[in-house]
Amino acid sequence: MIDLRSDTLTRPSKAMRDAMAAAEVGDDVFGEDPTVNRLQDRIAELLGKERALFVASGTMGNQLCIKTHTHAGDEVIAEAGAHVFFYETAGAAFLSSVQIYQVKGTRGVLPIADVQQAIRPDIYYMPRTRLLCLENTHNRAGGTVYPLENFSAIARIAHDAGLRVHLDGARLWNAAVASGVTPAEYCRHVDSVSVCLSKGLGAPVGSVIAGSKDFIEEARHFRKIFGGGMRQAGILAAAGLYALDNNVKRLADDHERARAFAETVATAPGVSIDLATVQTNIVIMDVAGTGTGAGEWARRFAEAGVRVSQASEHTLRAVTHLDVSAQDVRDAAAAIVRTVTAGRA
Ligand SMILES: Cc1ncc(COP(=O)(O)O)c(C=O)c1O
Repeated sequence: MIDLRSDTLTRPSKAMRDAMAAAEVGDDVFGEDPTVNRLQDRIAELLGKERALFVASGTMGNQLCIKTHTHAGDEVIAEAGAHVFFYETAGAAFLSSVQIYQVKGTRGVLPIADVQQAIRPDIYYMPRTRLLCLENTHNRAGGTVYPLENFSAIARIAHDAGLRVHLDGARLWNAAVASGVTPAEYCRHVDSVSVCLSKGLGAPVGSVIAGSKDFIEEARHFRKIFGGGMRQAGILAAAGLYALDNNVKRLADDHERARAFAETVATAPGVSIDLATVQTNIVIMDVAGTGTGAGEWARRFAEAGVRVSQASEHTLRAVTHLDVSAQDVRDAAAAIVRTVTAGRA
C-alpha cells in the first residue's frame, strides 16, 4: 500500500531512533532538559526570534499563541480554510473564548482590502480585532506558498491597525525550500510562529512556537495550564534536532514528486488539478468531472493500492513525504489513472 494521506504518517528512521535513544535528558518543567533547550535555541535562531518553546503538536502551538495574544471576547482574523479555523475543533472558542472572522483567500493568500475591511473600528459594541493568523504553506489550499511580498504587506496592514500577527508555519520548512525565502525572513513580519517537526520533517511528535522573550514566558505559563508541561521531553526533541539536520533540504524531493504525481493524475478523465497550486508536497484532486464522489474514489484507489484522503465531497488530497519514494509516487499516480479510466469506461 502506498499511503499518501498525509506527511504525518512517517515513522522515525533507525538513525532518528538512535538519536532519540542517545538523547541527554532532564526535567523540562524545571527547564532542565538540555536537548529540549538545544532544540528551542536552535529554532529560535532559525526563525530569528528571541525565544522558542517545545510543544506537543501544531494545534497546541497555534492555540497557545492565540491564547497568549488575546483576551476573552476578542476577534481573530484568519483565512476561511485556515487550519486554526477548520481543523482545530473550535479550539480558539473553547480555550481562548475568541471568535474567528473568516476572510476568503486565493490559494491561501488574503486579499488586503478584505482584511482591512475585517478589522473592526474601535467601537464599544463591537468585538476587538486582536490578531491576524496567517498560514504558510496553506494546507487546504493545497500546500501553497505565501509570496513574501504579500505576506509582509498583509502583516504591515495588521500591525499598523494595532493587531498582532501569528504564523501557522506547520509547513514553513516546505515554504522556505520551495521559495528560497528563509524561515527567518518570513518570521520577521510576525509576532509569533508555530512550526511542526512531525510533518515533512519526519519526527514522530512535536512542534515549536517562537516569539519575544516575554511572549514565550507567558506561553509557557499557558502550556502548563493546557497540560503540555512534559518531563524528559529531550527524547522527542532529539528527533526534532535530527530532522532539522537531515530532513529539511530533502523536502525539495517531496515537492518534485508531488509535481510529477499531479501532472500524471491530471491526465485521468474527469479529474482536474489546478497545477498552479502544486507548489510543495500537497496535491488536491477535483473529481467532480468523473460523476463519482470523492469518498467512492478514495475507496477504489485504496483497492488499487493507493491511499489518499478526502478533502471535500468532490476533492481528494495526496501528500508526498519521507516514507514514499519517487517510484512509489509514480506507481501511485499510474494506479489512480488506471482506476479512473477503468471506472469511467
Ligand atoms: C497548517 C497546519 N497547521 C497546524 C496543524 C496541526 O498540527 P498537529 O496535527 O500536530 O496538531 C496542521 C496539521 O496537519 C496543519 O496542516
